Amino acid sequence: MAESSASSLRRQTVTLIRGDGIGPEITAAVQEILDAAAVPIEWEEREAGLECAQRWGTPLPAETLASILRNRVALKGPTTTPIGSGHKSVNVTIRKALDLFANVRPARSLPGVRTRFENVDLIVLRENIEDTYGGIEHWQTPDVVQQLRIITRPGSEVFIRFAFELARRQGRRRITCVHKANIHKMSDGLFRELFYRIAAEYPELHADDILIDNLCMQLVVNPERFDVLVLPNLFGDLVSDLCAGLVGGLGVAPGGNIGTGRAVFEAVHGSAPDIAGRGIANPTALLLSAVQMLHFLGLHRHAHRIEEAVRLTLASGIRTRDLGGNATTREFTRAVISNLAPLDFTELPTLPEAPPPGPQPVASPESAPWHLHGMDVFVRSREGLPALPQQLGPLQLQMISNRGTRVFPGEPPPILLVDWYRCRYLSPDPITPEQLLQALQELTAAGVRWMHVELLHHVNGTALYSRAQGEE
Ligand code: NAI
Repeated sequence: MAESSASSLRRQTVTLIRGDGIGPEITAAVQEILDAAAVPIEWEEREAGLECAQRWGTPLPAETLASILRNRVALKGPTTTPIGSGHKSVNVTIRKALDLFANVRPARSLPGVRTRFENVDLIVLRENIEDTYGGIEHWQTPDVVQQLRIITRPGSEVFIRFAFELARRQGRRRITCVHKANIHKMSDGLFRELFYRIAAEYPELHADDILIDNLCMQLVVNPERFDVLVLPNLFGDLVSDLCAGLVGGLGVAPGGNIGTGRAVFEAVHGSAPDIAGRGIANPTALLLSAVQMLHFLGLHRHAHRIEEAVRLTLASGIRTRDLGGNATTREFTRAVISNLAPLDFTELPTLPEAPPPGPQPVASPESAPWHLHGMDVFVRSREGLPALPQQLGPLQLQMISNRGTRVFPGEPPPILLVDWYRCRYLSPDPITPEQLLQALQELTAAGVRWMHVELLHHVNGTALYSRAQGEE
């Protein structure tokens, strides 16, 4: 979107969610600053969060979602999520409902904010939908919970393309894929493979990759050497908070959740119940999230003007308590307003445009036919190694593992055994789904208590499943 003084007179409607805890205090501060800066925005206020759930019986009313869908853009205060039980996270629900597949978290050193490093300028890009955030969990036995980690080709591709496009448009030099493909060979392996495939279309960017553990070490030693980081969901969650710490902590860490043509901007931090209602919360993180939002809306000059005012304020030593200062939320807000440069659109530089909406995924590559060769049956046994038939029709019992380590055939290693075994039945030749069902029926008739089944496929003679530790 291009900005002109004429277009900036057109007011855009943005959904505003105040949220819980310090949410109302910091959203009010941000509204005040954007109003004072004459940003052409109309707020449409809607509710979400714990207080909303207590009042209306739902943490995310349909009308709130409808408002974001209608306006395409929202600014959201933090919402409280009960731990262990209670309603699902409002954030996760919004991301999924609106398919906000990319989480963009800049981490840039701020003047006057004392940290160990001075020149950090990172963008952490986190895939926002997949990975363990599918929330697919099942109790398998009273001792064992299973969680599925899902990495898909289309989901990763849309996200990684968005990451490269953002890096290009923001004139970045280096883009780094972060993964654990030495252990998660197939899932992170796919993510990394797609990263390099897409990198070929962006020759001006230096693309490389790093293991997540190594990255964490390097970030706390020498963060200046990184530029744009591209991560699957869970790693991205952790690394983005780490990077927030590098530049001054949660009080200054902004974030945006971006999808195709729509986005929700919110601070990284939570509802901070420990300081709620005391007028001391730092509104910077939400304010910088609003700056990101203004770029998304094409209001680059307004964004630039407000960001400069924040930097000037911090540089002048006016800081809230989380940053070692003693300014209240009000005092900080007033200072930012007084530091707004005169409204002169002609002199402000043009900033790179907001990244475009993510493209639709391309079709998966045609692959050779997949052949069914067997199944992993997950069996409960409280008496040690389960007694299982060696043969089920064409299927041969090949291997049993416990917590990923092979315990059959051969001498079981001296490991802690839980009551949940993965039992691998394989056939040298392809089998039919009917033969597999028949095998399961025989297993059930033999009194075996199974919890779930995974199908084992081969393509071009290659197994499409992982081996157990100790399995040849
Ligand atoms: P938190 O981020 O709310 O607080 C952690 C610490 O940072 C606290 O000491 C707090 O006082 C401080 N802090 C956070 N933001 C601050 C700010 N703007 N100014 C000054 N100090 C600030 O994390 P916590 O305590 O783990 O979570 C509280 C609630 O927030 C939970 O219910 C959690 O689920 C929710 N949450 C919501 C998020 C969201 O809506 N985006 C994100 C993270 C947590």
